[in-house]
Amino acid sequence: MVIQKICCLGAGYVGGPTCSVIALKCPNIKVTVCDKSEERIKQWNSDKLPIYEPGLDDVVRECRGKNLFFSTNIAESIREADLIFISVNTPTKTIGNGKGRAADLKYIESAARMIADLATSNKIVVEKSTVPVKAAEIIMKILRANTKPGVEYQILSNPEFLAEGTAIVDLVEAERVLIGGEDTPEGQKAVQELCWVYEHWIPAKNILTTNTWSSELSKLAANAFLAQRISSINSLSAVCEATGADVSEVARAVGRDSRIGPKFLEASIGFGGSCFQKDILNLIYLCECLNLPEVAAYWQQVVSLNDYQKTRFTRKVIEALFNTVSDKKIAILGFSFKKNTGDTRESPAIYVCSTLLDEGAKLHIYDPKVEHDQIYYELTNPYVTSEPEKVRKNITIHDSAYSAISGAHAIILCTEWDEFRSLDFKKIYNNMMKPAYLFDGRKILDHDMLINIGFHVQTIGKRL
Ligand code: NAD
Ligand code: UGA
Repeated sequence: MVIQKICCLGAGYVGGPTCSVIALKCPNIKVTVCDKSEERIKQWNSDKLPIYEPGLDDVVRECRGKNLFFSTNIAESIREADLIFISVNTPTKTIGNGKGRAADLKYIESAARMIADLATSNKIVVEKSTVPVKAAEIIMKILRANTKPGVEYQILSNPEFLAEGTAIVDLVEAERVLIGGEDTPEGQKAVQELCWVYEHWIPAKNILTTNTWSSELSKLAANAFLAQRISSINSLSAVCEATGADVSEVARAVGRDSRIGPKFLEASIGFGGSCFQKDILNLIYLCECLNLPEVAAYWQQVVSLNDYQKTRFTRKVIEALFNTVSDKKIAILGFSFKKNTGDTRESPAIYVCSTLLDEGAKLHIYDPKVEHDQIYYELTNPYVTSEPEKVRKNITIHDSAYSAISGAHAIILCTEWDEFRSLDFKKIYNNMMKPAYLFDGRKILDHDMLINIGFHVQTIGKRL
């Protein structure tokens, strides 16, 4: 079979950009991205896409309506597709067995059931979502228990490694594509068919093929390794603050060893994003189920250290402000979990803000790309507060950093947006309450310059 039509279930941060790039690079393949959310599909078909991702608008503009379609007509897209990506969300379970750790596979299961109900011809079903090891078996069981006569399925694992903010470059210039399949002639044929799609633009040497379980585990392992590096450098940031060492210098020296490498060693207020914590918790749960408590404890420490880092930073802010922030105006610069995205899922800014709100602070928040409603949603969420109305009264959201900062006692920089580096800090200082405090949670500002202006500055991993 030569793949002519692709359907993707889930038009989120992964499904949208991934399929847009496939459409761009494979002009002869018709790619339809489906979602059960009408609102999301409407946004994908509008001028304002539902996610902010550098370069994405151009790709969508070039392909949409030609060989790239966004649709809620899931039935038709499934029926006509040769290959179906499942790119639905796999959040951490919030109730029941494994609550707080296990991945909730209800959306994966419902996607598999939809395919089983609707398919009338052979399909290659590709697990693109991040899942626990052996999830393909669940999909396989559902599909094969409901197979219509003459319909055959192959299930592949093809985890996604893109990072938000750099998704288009990550997809166009992928260092590796990973495809896992069954070790049978039919399974290997399906692997080759998916390889063929990627080979339109990815060199064959960058396409790795493995068995299904290795592929599933490699995705969890890759995220766990990345997060572990951040927790490692963040643990050392505390040592630096206590000793006078500078964590950036330590990272530079350690990273110069080619066995270690320089990337992903930026100390911060902690990692955020929808995946690192979720995927490590998923790995921990898997280890517990496999009766490997020592392995589970090892990875648990990566998450615990991240919680410690967020708490440690926020505690230091409050201590510096004379141990009370009640009724103080505090400016928050950046709310997304990293620069170049409007995504706020698990953003460390949420912890910082909610703790300060609990202490009675008045927060003035500015982020270049996060929608105002999204900030309200995150901070008034029942997981964060039992008093949403009170919280709402104590937050003001601004359209510029200058207006958020005007009259503030302190600035807390939570996200490393480039525009924060070039703010006019002399002007800002003149418009603040004195003493004027600045807490640089991302270590991106020129601290000597700020101190010369008159700011009291604190940062991560360096005593100033
Ligand atoms: P998301 O929440 O942005 O998007 C998921 C979409 O799936 C939602 O729009 C939802 O409405 C839709 N959906 C759920 N069930 C559906 C169904 N049965 N049919 C059609 N649509 C359905 O999630 P995301 O960030 O794109 O992540 C998707 C998966 O990819 C997760 O497993 C995640 O761990 C993984 N992943 C995410 C990233 C990332 O950067 N966000 C990177 C790599 C892997
Ligand atoms: C991460 C991985 O990098 C992707 O490979 C993976 O596909 C994705 O998770 C996923 O599975 O969802 P993402 O979360 O989008 O991508 O962004 P990262 O660049 O990894 O940043 C995650 C968090 O770590 C951010 O809060 C970032 O600020 C923080 N970080 C990153 C640091 O604190 N220090 C660093 O050195 C790097």
